Amino acid sequence: MKLWQGRFDSPEAADADAFNESLSFDKKLWRADITASVAHATMLGECGILTKEEADAICDGLKGIYADIERGALAVEGQEDIHSFVEGELVARIGQTGKKLHTARSRNDQVATDMRLYAREATDNAVSALKALIGVLLARAKETVKYIMPGFTHLRKAQPVNCAQYFNAYSEMFLRDLDRFHALRQRMNVMPLGSAALAGTSWPIDREVTRRLLGFDSISRNSLDAVSDRDFVAEYLFCASLTMAHLSRLCEDTILYTSEEFGYWEIPDAYSTGSSIMPQKKNPDIPELVRGKTGRVYGHLVGILTTIKGIPLAYNKDLQEDKEPFFDAQATLESCLSIYTALLARLTFNVNKMYDAAGEGYSTATDVADYLAKRGVPFRDAHAVTGKLVRYCIEQGKTLPSLTLEEFRLASPVFDADVLQTVTARASAEGRNSVGGSSTEAAKAGIASIRKRLRQY
Ligand code: ARG
Repeated sequence: MKLWQGRFDSPEAADADAFNESLSFDKKLWRADITASVAHATMLGECGILTKEEADAICDGLKGIYADIERGALAVEGQEDIHSFVEGELVARIGQTGKKLHTARSRNDQVATDMRLYAREATDNAVSALKALIGVLLARAKETVKYIMPGFTHLRKAQPVNCAQYFNAYSEMFLRDLDRFHALRQRMNVMPLGSAALAGTSWPIDREVTRRLLGFDSISRNSLDAVSDRDFVAEYLFCASLTMAHLSRLCEDTILYTSEEFGYWEIPDAYSTGSSIMPQKKNPDIPELVRGKTGRVYGHLVGILTTIKGIPLAYNKDLQEDKEPFFDAQATLESCLSIYTALLARLTFNVNKMYDAAGEGYSTATDVADYLAKRGVPFRDAHAVTGKLVRYCIEQGKTLPSLTLEEFRLASPVFDADVLQTVTARASAEGRNSVGGSSTEAAKAGIASIRKRLRQY
């Protein structure tokens, strides 16, 4: 039996019913739906719209339904959506009084409220998962603050960097994501309940009561907007998309750095996979899958933006399409953050290989140019002299650290013996002591700063 059957001659056709239903996916909202209904019934009782006995009977019935679903004793099935299911079950349990629950309420403000309650929890989960990931990044940074690795631009070796500085870079990205989810949590915490179908209600409700009971910070100020606003869904999907973008970049680095060609890091066997035909293969399926799943989260963002762009005020059934993308993006984000955090905690480092690689590719050429410039040679000229030295190395099959003082002096008489200490990868990284730079000191300061900012959430 439909909640809306009264006006109709015939029951809904089976195919129309199957197309229209949302219970198969919005059953995820059962906790939010019952919680919001208990608050609504309590408020109706407090405002004298229901008697105290009626409100109590409804709340007790709802709590019984909650407990039964929780312990697996009640299957959520057989209705159009979660709202119909809960109401139908309530009436089945407590009889006529149950039919009064929907006084001064519509499924339109009900579903908007349920989704906010659900999204609020999902946002809290994202905040926790990001905190855990940054915690592991900080731990890895602390362990590796003595290590030097190559820094790349254009995926060509550019300058040696501190390993901790590398991990700190991702902490900075994820801190921004954390801050975005945190801000979204506050922005979305506005209660639409009490807007009814679209125009508000003539019942003497007190929205402050439900607001307090449901832990919302404020109440919506326009009922037309409130029932059709899904900005918070789009915002969650954007926050999730950008977090996935950052995670995907980290995964791409992980795939590259653990390859035979780079060989800087190692993924433990427990987080690697093999090939069905090539016995030697150790594949990075987990970071590849995270990188791949990023696309579907972006897809959901574009999906919701497209869904909401043309709907006339106020509620339209199109808005039911907010749920599956949200749920899928949430599950994807949470599983990706969790699995990569576990993998990152177990990565091992080939310290010597990273260090040797950091010194290859004339990666300390900038230090040679800076050496000359600090001794009065204009930087542009110093750049040209160093460029010639690099060409000399290429022609002679030498590296910058392998050059003799005589060879340096052939390029410029400004060079002195101390240039030989300047061109090592460690000296190069240690020399960059600017705030946020690659020296050990700067990397340690980076760790302290990230730790301090993380504590604010
Ligand atoms: N399942 C619907 C949704 O998710 C619930 C609201 C139905 N409201 C309505 N007027 N048909 O949007």
